[in-house]
Amino acid sequence: MTNERFKDQVAIITGGADGLGLHIATRLTHEGARVWIVDRDQELGTAAAERIGCEFEPVDVADEVSVTSTFEKINATAGRLDVMVNCAGIVGPNGVKIEDVPLSGFEQVQAVNVRGSFLTCREAIKHMTPNDYGRVLLVASIAGKEGNAGMVCYSTSKAGVIGMVKSAGKEYAETGITVNGLAPAVIQTALVDNMEPEQVKYMTDKIPMKRCGTLDELASMACWIVSPEASFNTGFTFDLSGGRAVY
Ligand SMILES: NC(=O)c1ccc[n+]([C@@H]2O[C@H](COP(=O)([O-])OP(=O)(O)OC[C@H]3O[C@@H](n4cnc5c(N)ncnc54)[C@H](O)[C@@H]3O)[C@@H](O)[C@H]2O)c1
Repeated sequence: MTNERFKDQVAIITGGADGLGLHIATRLTHEGARVWIVDRDQELGTAAAERIGCEFEPVDVADEVSVTSTFEKINATAGRLDVMVNCAGIVGPNGVKIEDVPLSGFEQVQAVNVRGSFLTCREAIKHMTPNDYGRVLLVASIAGKEGNAGMVCYSTSKAGVIGMVKSAGKEYAETGITVNGLAPAVIQTALVDNMEPEQVKYMTDKIPMKRCGTLDELASMACWIVSPEASFNTGFTFDLSGGRAVY
């Protein structure tokens, strides 16, 4: 699909080297945006950017200096920032109950998923404020709304992201900047491929539509949320769960 919905806009997609982020980056590029994939995987990121015709910067979203300096560099190069989608995320320990979860695993998941959301959201808003326009989208998860047994680290982190969206959305509600979240159920990516099979079955069995979501369904919704059309929505975490969460 090619159209001009994002013509003259600049977008940063974290975690854009693979999975959901890559699909969103591809769609935004086709629809006219100048896109930067930022990802900690340099090899995948460089190859993806070349393939879809966008730019790449290596970033660890859990690292304040890495996020701050890269967002500054992109803003200085492009002269503006309109869209920031934070897709970088990890699952961490899964298929285990809380009593068997090491603290290091818990902390690592919070560092990437919560601190990463905080840093990327904060820096994006700083660069959107001068134009009084922006669309921030933080990818959360159904696990943050419902709580998945066997995934306490991940569910905790994504509930944190949903809280961040509610709070930051309200803080900027009187500006041209919106902050929203997206809570997918299961979409087949490397993240899911690397999970315990029993854990994946637990999650997919709970989807009333009895199937996984597709990358196209995900990208369609995400791109609408970050488009100028979505002007009366902020602080909300949209559902993409085949009926599992109806709120
Ligand atoms: N796939 C699903 O079913 C699903 C469901 C709900 C939520 N999500 C969320 O969607 C987001 C994307 O998931 P995905 O399935 O595309 O995963 P993925 O593993 O396919 O891709 C994630 C990307 O993030 C990058 N990344 C990881 N840690 C990073 C870090 N610290 N700094 C920078 N980049 C980092 C990886 O290199 C990778 O390119 C995640 O936040 C995930 O929790 C996914």
